[in-house]
Parts: sequence; structure tokens; C-alpha cells
Amino acid sequence: MSARIVQITDLHLMADPLAELKGVCTRTNLNVVLDVLRRDFGSVERLIVTGDLAHDELQETYEVLRELLSDWLPKLRLIPGNHENRAFMRQVFGDRLAEVDDRNVFADVIGGWRLIGLDSQLPGEVRGHLGESQRDWLARELAAEPFQPTAVFLHHPPLKVGTGWLDEIGLEDAERLLELLWRSPQVKFVCCGHIHHEMTVAQANVLLLTTPSTSVQFLPETERLIPDSVPPGFRIFDLEPDGSFRTRVVRVPIVTETLP
Ligand SMILES: [Fe+2]
Repeated sequence: MSARIVQITDLHLMADPLAELKGVCTRTNLNVVLDVLRRDFGSVERLIVTGDLAHDELQETYEVLRELLSDWLPKLRLIPGNHENRAFMRQVFGDRLAEVDDRNVFADVIGGWRLIGLDSQLPGEVRGHLGESQRDWLARELAAEPFQPTAVFLHHPPLKVGTGWLDEIGLEDAERLLELLWRSPQVKFVCCGHIHHEMTVAQANVLLLTTPSTSVQFLPETERLIPDSVPPGFRIFDLEPDGSFRTRVVRVPIVTETLP
């Protein structure tokens, strides 16, 4: 029987419920996305949030998020993005993640699959970095179950995505991660956020999937950040015990009511 998991990413939530990012109210968007998830996809096994949770990096914002996600708490797994305060994240979501060398990560098993979440935050920077000790931890996790289908989640894509300004703020030690993934065929896909649009990129045996933000969208193949008018979304995976899987992005139009 397949296991259904959902990824949401780049929430950019703020303590002020009306705060906007590039003209988008991030709180409203997240609420609408979560309503569609509850209504249409109630029976998910895991809800994985891949970073940029708190745009203002305030403890209060993490507390708001915990409240918004309260009905998913037992199924919730989170990793940081570049817009994050690791300590506040851990303080509020300490029971939903693991700590490895001061990084917020997770390792989980569902439906015969291993799900591993990495922390690619480089404090004070937009680009990402995993570091040797975290890679060593990942290598040990992968070596422990070399034949179990595995999915790896991290905020920063480890492959070029073809948009110059986004590639400049990617994962700076990506090559080292790729070396590990190239010799780990049990890793069926790597799933990221950060670029605020949907992509599928394959290189050697590494399949990279990226997912739209729940907030503002970035137009791909531009020379600078240009917001896109496509709706926000999330990604669904159906994981089969034999290592095969299906995935798709679900878009959620945001309809704002106009009072007469
Ligand atoms: Fe983001």
C-alpha cells in the first residue's frame, strides 16, 4: 500500500497577520493552501515543511505556525531555510525535529521508505551550506539502510536550476553532497524549495524536484527576482514500498473577496 506525503515550502510567514512579501499576504496564502490540503488531501502520512518558515525570524512567528499546523503535529517534519532562526525553530518545534551538530534535521520511516531532512542554512547568508559533519551524518544514515528507498529533503537545490541569480545563491558545497548521492542509488529523489517555482532536474542518478512556495512565486529564467502571477502550491508524493513513486504539484488559486 502506498504512503502519501505532502511537501509545503517557503511559507515566509510573519508575526503580523497582514504582512506582505512582494504584494502577497503570506499568512492568507498559507491558510488557503492548508484549507485545500485539509479538504482534498486529509489522509496524508507526513507533512514536510522545507524551510523559509519565518521570514521575520521571530519566535512569535514559529508559535503562530505551530498553531496553524496543530492538526498535523504528529505527522509534521520540518527543516530550515535561509530565512530562519534555528534556535527559535528548535524551541517551538523541538519535538518535531532532531538536532545534529546544532543543525535541525530529521530522519523518519514511512511506508517502507526513509525520509531524511537536511539543514542547509548558513546563518546570515542567502546561499546554503551543509558542512562536513552533517554530510557524515547523512552518509551514516544512508549506509545503515542501503537497500531501503530513500527521499532526501533540503531547502537549497544541489543542482543548477538554470536561473542565474538563483544558482548564485544555491548550495555552495553541492558537489560534496552529489558525490554522496551518486553512490547511493537507494535515494530515489531530492526535494527542495528556495527557488519558489516548480522544476524537475536530473543529473546522473540524482533526480531533483522543486516545489512552488505557499507564498510568492518567482518567474524562472530571469536575471533578477521577478514575481510570477501563477498561484501558490504544494507537492504530493505517493510512495510505493518497491521504491517507485508518483508526484505532482497542486496549485491553489487565491481568491480575494471584493466587498460591494
Ligand atoms: Fe523562500
